Amino acid sequence: MKKALALTLAATMALGLTACTGGTTSSGSTTGSTSGTTSSAASSGTGTSQVANKDKPLVWFNRQPSNSSTGELDMNALSFNKDTYYVGFDANQGAELQGTMIMDYIKANIDTIDRNGDGIIGYVLAIGDIGHNDSIARTRGVRAALGTAVEVNGAIDSAPVGTNTDGTATAVKDGTLEVNGKTYTIRELASQEMKNSAGATWDAATAGNAIGTWTASFGDSIDVIASNNDGMGMSMFNAWSKESGVPTFGYDANADAVAAIAEGYGGTISQHADVQAYLTLRVLRNALDGVDIDTGIGTADSAGNVLTDDVYYYDEEQRSYYALNVAVTAENYQDFMDSTKVYEPVSNQLDAATSPEKSVWLNIYNSADNFLSATYQPLLQNYDDLLNLKVEYIGGDGQTEANITNRLSNPSAYDAFAINMVKTDNSASYTALLSQ
Ligand code: BGC
Ligand code: CA
Repeated sequence: MKKALALTLAATMALGLTACTGGTTSSGSTTGSTSGTTSSAASSGTGTSQVANKDKPLVWFNRQPSNSSTGELDMNALSFNKDTYYVGFDANQGAELQGTMIMDYIKANIDTIDRNGDGIIGYVLAIGDIGHNDSIARTRGVRAALGTAVEVNGAIDSAPVGTNTDGTATAVKDGTLEVNGKTYTIRELASQEMKNSAGATWDAATAGNAIGTWTASFGDSIDVIASNNDGMGMSMFNAWSKESGVPTFGYDANADAVAAIAEGYGGTISQHADVQAYLTLRVLRNALDGVDIDTGIGTADSAGNVLTDDVYYYDEEQRSYYALNVAVTAENYQDFMDSTKVYEPVSNQLDAATSPEKSVWLNIYNSADNFLSATYQPLLQNYDDLLNLKVEYIGGDGQTEANITNRLSNPSAYDAFAINMVKTDNSASYTALLSQ
C-alpha cells in the first residue's frame, strides 16, 4: 500500500497541474468541453453539443490499448485527446495475490491435497486470452507462486503448455515445495487458451470441455485447478471439480463464484469492479462538466463521493486508473456476496443542475463474457443513474471489432464514449470513427 500511496500522491500533484492547464484552455480559448457543456445543458438535451467527435471524452476500459504480443502500451490511443483515459486494475498486484492464495491453500491443506499420493501436486490452468495483459499476468502470477515459472527474455513465459503430465514441457518447470520435512513436486499438468472455434476468448464452455478431456485421461493427478477467471473456473467447477472436491481458483469475484466458495470453490480475486465501473463513468462525467479530473475520485465532490488510495491509484504517464485487488477466500467471502452493489463511498447522487444529463456510447466487447455481463455492466448501470449519464450499452460478439463499430455509425449523437475493445491492438478501429 505504501507504493500505491506514493504513486497516488505523485499522481495527484501532477494532476493538479494538468487540470489547471487543461481547465484554462477549455474555458478560455476554445469552444471545447466547457462551452459544449453549457449549450447542451441549456437545450437540456443530450448529444447536442457542438464539440467535434475527436475532442469528446473517451475512456478505454478493461482492455488496455496495447500491443498484444509485447504488452507495450499504445500511448497514441491512451492520449487520443486531452480527455482520454484508461480504467482497469493492477494486473500484477492481482496476479501475485491469486498465485499466493493458491499456494497458501496448498500449504494449509498439504495433508490431503495430493489425491493420488504420488508426491506430485498437479494443477491445470485455464488461460483466458494469450494476448490479453490480464490473462498473461495471471498465468505468470500462478506460475511464479507455485514455482513452475520459466523465464524467457527477462519475463515469465506465459505460453500454454498443452499437456505436460510427464513434466517435459519447456514453458514451465516442475516446482518443489517442502512442508513438514516432506518434499513435494508441483507440476502444471496442462494448460490451454480457452478460445472457441468462432474465436471468442475466455470462453467458459471451452473450459468445461477441456476439464472433461483432461480428467478423462489424468483426472487422478489433478489436485488443484487454476483459472484466469471465474467464468471458466465455474464452468470447470460445475463440470467436475465440485463433485470431485478439487479446489478451483478463479478471478473476478463474480457472484456465482463467491457463493460457490461455500461449496468448495477454492477462492477468487476481487478486482474491485465496483471501483472500476465508477471510475469508467466518472472520468467522462468530470470531463463533460469541465471540472478537475480528480473530482469525486481523490477529491470529494459536492455530493461527498470520494475514493481512498487503498482501492485505486492513478498513473499520470499512462493516463490510467488502476483499481487494487483483494483476495476472496473461505475466510472473507461473506463480504463479497453482492458483486453488483455500488461502492458505498461513491454512491451519492450528483446534482443535475451542475452535472446535467449527458449521453454516452459504451460497448462491452463480448456480451457473453461472464465478468463483464454479470458484474461490470450491472455496476455501470447502477452508477449511470447516480452520475446523470444516459448510457447506450452495446454488446459485441467477442470476435470482431466490426460487429461493434458498425453500431457506432453516428458518434455525433453522443457526448462521450467508453470503449472495451475485442483485441487490445485495435484502438484505431474506434479512433478512426471519432476522427472522421
Ligand atoms: C476479467 C475476465 C474478462 C476479461 C475481459 C478481465 O479483467 O478478469 O473475466 O473475461 O477481463 O476482457
Ligand atoms: Ca498427486
